[in-house]
Amino acid sequence: TDPLRLGIAGLGTVGTGVVKIVRQKASLLAARAGRPITISAISARTRDKDRGVTLSDYAWEDDPVALATRDDVDVFVELMGGSDGPAKAATEAAIAAGKDVVTANKAMLAHHGQALAIAAENAGRVLRFEAAVAGGIPVIKALTEGLAGNEITRVMGVMNGTCNYILTRMQSAGLPYDTVFDEAAQLGYLEADPTLDVGGIDAGHKLSLLASIAFGTQVDFDAVDLEGIEKVTIADIRHAADMDYRIKLLGVARMTGRGLEQRMSPCLVPADSPLGQLEGGTNMVVLEGDMVEQIVLRGPGAGEGPTASAVMADVMDIARGCRVSTFGQPAKGLQKAQSALGATP
Ligand code: NDP
Ligand code: HSE
Repeated sequence: TDPLRLGIAGLGTVGTGVVKIVRQKASLLAARAGRPITISAISARTRDKDRGVTLSDYAWEDDPVALATRDDVDVFVELMGGSDGPAKAATEAAIAAGKDVVTANKAMLAHHGQALAIAAENAGRVLRFEAAVAGGIPVIKALTEGLAGNEITRVMGVMNGTCNYILTRMQSAGLPYDTVFDEAAQLGYLEADPTLDVGGIDAGHKLSLLASIAFGTQVDFDAVDLEGIEKVTIADIRHAADMDYRIKLLGVARMTGRGLEQRMSPCLVPADSPLGQLEGGTNMVVLEGDMVEQIVLRGPGAGEGPTASAVMADVMDIARGCRVSTFGQPAKGLQKAQSALGATP
């Protein structure tokens, strides 16, 4: 059988994780997919860097666009990051060249997901992004497949591990925000631009993607009512604890009579609830549907193994012949949901 040939752009935390899975689990993947999964070519900013995995078997491209359009690439795997720039250019080029695309890039999708999905649809290509929301938790699969017979009523959760770490540590160690922020920086938890984490933007990106999938609307990140955790004080945490509550950066999306409501903000949750007990960098997503009532998914929202695991879930689906994009319905038909926050009653 023909192999499914990958071109991987971005060999950082997630990219090297994907290469390791493809190399180390080749037989398992081939057995499960019914065909081998191979890597044809790779790209990153710096060629000569020890990345802890053998890369000499693969062709090298300095330019991610050149990688994305190679004849020996079936699926372009975008793991560079950034909402615009090379990630978007190479994704567009890949689609135009007739490649399927798998990405973990929530920032790019929150801003350009709709346009990219339509481009993919027009070209008959598949665009998938399981890894973009809640890392290793297969939340998009749960929504699009497991709950396909449900009308989704609400999606909520803790979707940024860094913020959850900071808030949990403030609570457990009684340390102020600034101290724990510095600690998180030293541990390497923060994004290169920490505002993405603590400003709630990264979590907002993820919520906008989940909301679009859950409610069949266009991705509308600008409509997310966003507040980060920068203003949460140790006094807030203590007052919440006194009432047996915890403060969590919680995202909630639901369809109201006035349209789609999307909020990402610090919220009080009961200390003994699953969300209240969520510690460290873990993520939790709660999905509510008319048939199942409530499903709770909990797991690692970041890191090499968990995120690469989610990337491979998409790769494997494509290898098995799945032609469904993550925006499961024709993207061209999706309507922009009227924002409940901006709408007049
Ligand atoms: P890293 O910063 O670790 O790696 C980024 C990679 O992209 C590096 O290999 C870098 O090259 C390469 N790169 C950056 N710019 C360019 C460019 N202009 N041309 C070619 N290559 C480039 O990022 P992560 O692996 O952490 O993240 C990748 C994606 O996955 C992002 O979209 C991120 O949001 C997403 N994601 C990450 C998670 C995580 O836990 N890390 C979790 C969920 C999603 P070089 O190494 O040479 O500098
Ligand atoms: N900065 C993100 C987080 C990485 O802390 O959750 C995973 O998307």
